[in-house]
Amino acid sequence: MSGLALERILDLARWAPSGDNTQPWRFEIVACNHIAVHGFDTRDQVLYDFDGHASHMAHGALLETLRIAATGFGLEASWSLRLGGPATAPIYDVLLEENPGITIDPLFPYIEKRVVQRRVMRTTPLTQAQHQALVRAPGSAYEVQFFEVFPERLKMARLLWDNAFIRLTCPEAYKVHREVIEWGARYSKERIPEKAVGVDVLTGRLMKWVMQRWSRVDFFNRYLLGTVLPRIQLDFLPALGCAAHVLLRSHQPLIELVDYVRAGIALQRLWLTASSVGLYLQPQMTPVIFRWYARSGKAFSESSDIVHHASLLADRFESLIGGDGNTPLVFFSRVGSGKSPVSRSLRKDVSDLIFK
Ligand SMILES: Cc1cc2nc3c(=O)[nH]c(=O)nc-3n(C[C@H](O)[C@H](O)[C@H](O)COP(=O)(O)O)c2cc1C
Repeated sequence: MSGLALERILDLARWAPSGDNTQPWRFEIVACNHIAVHGFDTRDQVLYDFDGHASHMAHGALLETLRIAATGFGLEASWSLRLGGPATAPIYDVLLEENPGITIDPLFPYIEKRVVQRRVMRTTPLTQAQHQALVRAPGSAYEVQFFEVFPERLKMARLLWDNAFIRLTCPEAYKVHREVIEWGARYSKERIPEKAVGVDVLTGRLMKWVMQRWSRVDFFNRYLLGTVLPRIQLDFLPALGCAAHVLLRSHQPLIELVDYVRAGIALQRLWLTASSVGLYLQPQMTPVIFRWYARSGKAFSESSDIVHHASLLADRFESLIGGDGNTPLVFFSRVGSGKSPVSRSLRKDVSDLIFK
């Protein structure tokens, strides 16, 4: 197989999603049928990357996208985790084999079309066909749970409203938010462009100014109801304005790194399938992530109030989904149809992702 085909496959694979568009992967072309994916995680800098789980899920999404992309070039891809490496820098060996009989994966056309939609979507209920497609997408090791009717969406909206208060008042989360938004941008290769964040122009301008310093954020939050506008626009209204909240659950506990990688494969299949049936899917992972912290007993903030609040929220989340402290949750999102986003995260150039 040609080096050109490998580069083209990687060019497609890099469109896999990753938390805050961190793209925690680099590629090494070892041989004409062998790519080593060098993963990394952001647990030391990013509060949301609890134990590297979000990065490991992104690795899974990348590996599945690479596999789907390869089918478009008559190639069958298989991957294995290289043994002995640290969890913070896992290496995945991907072998590509020519298979003239292979059919192009039906999700292939959606690799580049899949995109976040953080804004309000239509509330048109899911059709039976959309339902079935989403249920089947992640495979039999996972279960897809829907929260669709208005009272269910309202309960989720309230949960997300309270969850967002933690996100916006937590000094450790502020450090992440400050780094991740590319202000004034419609497209961003390495971060999230402002216009894809999901707030209106005025709120965006205010956020940009306030977020320059934690003291301003803290002052606004304490005395000027600073969390209200972003919470309405980013959490409450979109949580009502969607067709359904969709929770991906695993039948087995997630323990090893590879369990999270497989969970990432499942989430990418769910997301690409949503695109294939005309839906946008928007992750809303922070309730899952704060619950990971709460259930592990690890404090994620110097503020004991915030940590306590997160623990109460984890109880509420579990009661809403009919689970308990041991229920393995993979991915929480909302779906719906609607207008295409006017702005999106791009990716680093493939040449910058390949080791020379
Ligand atoms: C594991 C994982 C968790 C994510 N969590 C969130 C989230 O909580 N909120 C959000 O707005 N986007 C979330 N995202 C979406 C990323 O921000 C998005 O994929 C990235 O910025 C690239 O944009 P794109 O998917 O539109 O290409 C998540 C993505 C992944 C893979």
